[in-house]
Amino acid sequence: EKGGFKHFMLKEIDEIPESIESALVGRFDDDYNPVMHELDEFNIEKIKRILLVACGTSYHAGLVFKYFAEKYLNVDVLIDVASEFRYRPIRIDDETLTIAISQSGETADTLESIRAVKKAGGKVVAISNVVGSTITRESDVTLYMNAGPEIGVAASKTYVNQLILLYTLALYMIKKRNLWTEEHKKIAKQIVSSANLIKKIISNKEIERVSDHYKNYQHFMYIGRGVNTATALEGALKLKEISYINAVGYPAGELKHGPIALLDPTFPVFAIAPKDSLYEKMRSNIEETRARNARILTIATEGDTEIQKISHDVLYVPEVHEDLYPLVIAPVIQLFAYYIADKRGYDPDKPRNLAKSVTVE
Ligand code: M6R
Repeated sequence: EKGGFKHFMLKEIDEIPESIESALVGRFDDDYNPVMHELDEFNIEKIKRILLVACGTSYHAGLVFKYFAEKYLNVDVLIDVASEFRYRPIRIDDETLTIAISQSGETADTLESIRAVKKAGGKVVAISNVVGSTITRESDVTLYMNAGPEIGVAASKTYVNQLILLYTLALYMIKKRNLWTEEHKKIAKQIVSSANLIKKIISNKEIERVSDHYKNYQHFMYIGRGVNTATALEGALKLKEISYINAVGYPAGELKHGPIALLDPTFPVFAIAPKDSLYEKMRSNIEETRARNARILTIATEGDTEIQKISHDVLYVPEVHEDLYPLVIAPVIQLFAYYIADKRGYDPDKPRNLAKSVTVE
């Protein structure tokens, strides 16, 4: 049932393009306007505050939404991991919308957070992959990811589908609030054609080749800026959970506030540095880590040959709208973690101490 793949995780990464296509069914009209009938009953125009709640990888997808939505919508997006959210006071009013993200739809802390919001009189939109799961039953409305079953404990195709839905949701809100511009149409177009792009990205043999240089390290630091702070956190989570390498993720600007003290030749850096508006800042951060003699692996935009001068290894992704890099980089960090785990002799489908659905608090 692994369809010829060595592990479910590899199979599920390979399924990302078709999984994106399923998530997109009915989501954009012929003119690239976002469609989200599930939310037609919500007064999207009125919302001033969005509360986002999730755990683990789903939380990282939420972070991408925060950066994207706050850039274009006049709303505050407050995000928290569910195990903290549920114990804090919740302020709900008519202008607040809560979004709960859970692949399994069964995560205990996320469920309890939803219950707390509902008790306070709030409305909850769930994003889930499992039809009829508890979270979908207790939320007001569910946006389904349609990724198909994911067996590997590490979230892969479901993370990508969460991103697709969250970008679409933000675009839907932008449209509803009359903030739509040609730029949003361009983003919508790229989302609609992202499956093809990702097909090419996952066939990049460089990812496996490069992973060989990093399989024996005991530590790893992922850095990114802006929306790719989320990519750095997710990259580190993916690596630590399946390869047992002590990987940490930071917004790159935080390096000099402590973590840079860790770096030396035994502590490599994974820099997320696509050609976006924070690119020059990322370059300076890469230079800083270079000065500590750390080995540097950079993810960059195709055509950026300059970056090779300050990196030991470079993995390229095609150029996309700057907000969409988390989407195209996601499969790269997943494959990188997969190959390292496999080369270290671990089964990436069954990481120790972890379960696919975390139904205990
Ligand atoms: O099912 P959920 O999306 O609620 O799960 C939340 C986390 O347990 C989950 O994303 C976990 O971090 C991933 N399996 C890590 O790859």
